[in-house]
Amino acid sequence: MKRKLTRFDLQKMKESGQKVVWITAYDYPTAQFAEQAGMDMILVGDSLGMCIYGYEGTVPVTMDQCIVHSEAVRRAAPNTFVIGDMPFLSYQVSVEAAVRHAGRFFKEASVDAIKLEGGRRVCPQIRAIADGGMLVMGHIGLTPQSSGQQGGFKAQGRTADAALELIGDARAIQDAGAFALLVEAVPPEVCRIIRDDLTIPVYSIGAGPEADGQLMISSDLLGVFQAFTPKFVKRYADVAGVVVEAFRAYVVDVREQRFPAEEHTYTMVEGELPKLTEALRG
Ligand code: KIV
Repeated sequence: MKRKLTRFDLQKMKESGQKVVWITAYDYPTAQFAEQAGMDMILVGDSLGMCIYGYEGTVPVTMDQCIVHSEAVRRAAPNTFVIGDMPFLSYQVSVEAAVRHAGRFFKEASVDAIKLEGGRRVCPQIRAIADGGMLVMGHIGLTPQSSGQQGGFKAQGRTADAALELIGDARAIQDAGAFALLVEAVPPEVCRIIRDDLTIPVYSIGAGPEADGQLMISSDLLGVFQAFTPKFVKRYADVAGVVVEAFRAYVVDVREQRFPAEEHTYTMVEGELPKLTEALRG
């Protein structure tokens, strides 16, 4: 049976150059498939707002939604390191709120860690959550919850000044007690500098191959999310195509009375049909 990784395993993997591979999952079946496929970690991302609920961004996502989906993923993948994602306004308002909301993920959904977005400005929250005994991952670069300030879903750290800001944020996050850092939509050179600079693992989503591991959004990887495809996505399947094709075939079968066939129906208990006919006559 697969053994769930610990933060120490993740640390050793960085030191030995072994890549960590993880995806997002929001529901029981996807998380079950991820564990069966040997995924190292699962993020129950607040991207569930876009991938499951059809919102335009992640801002409307609530704590309760994140908890319910994290619970389902935990049940499906008991031997995989699961990370809960702190939704918008669950940690920005105050340090006290951040600790309380982080704690909900651990108490109610038994996650192994939580993740939150932002650089130096969320370091007091990271420090307090870590001091509360919880594992916390940072997330810099493109941060969808503040994409309005970033001018949309755009690559970050593309100038020397912007890259220096990110490097400063990464150091501050490590110093605040984060066990790992996720870097999103940043040039590979900048991600490599951050990876070499930090002692904690540095993971990439759209930040090139040299990070300590790679994250992909499962709905992108599977070809389920149809609104847009970020540059950094590699599609491994066309699940939308397969599903639409199956639904179409079912529609045609029913309309043309090919479904249900005899093998899809139940038989009455021997001798009961004549009794029923008799009863209906009488
Ligand atoms: O919510 C999420 O899936 C994320 C990724 C975009 C990194 O935070």
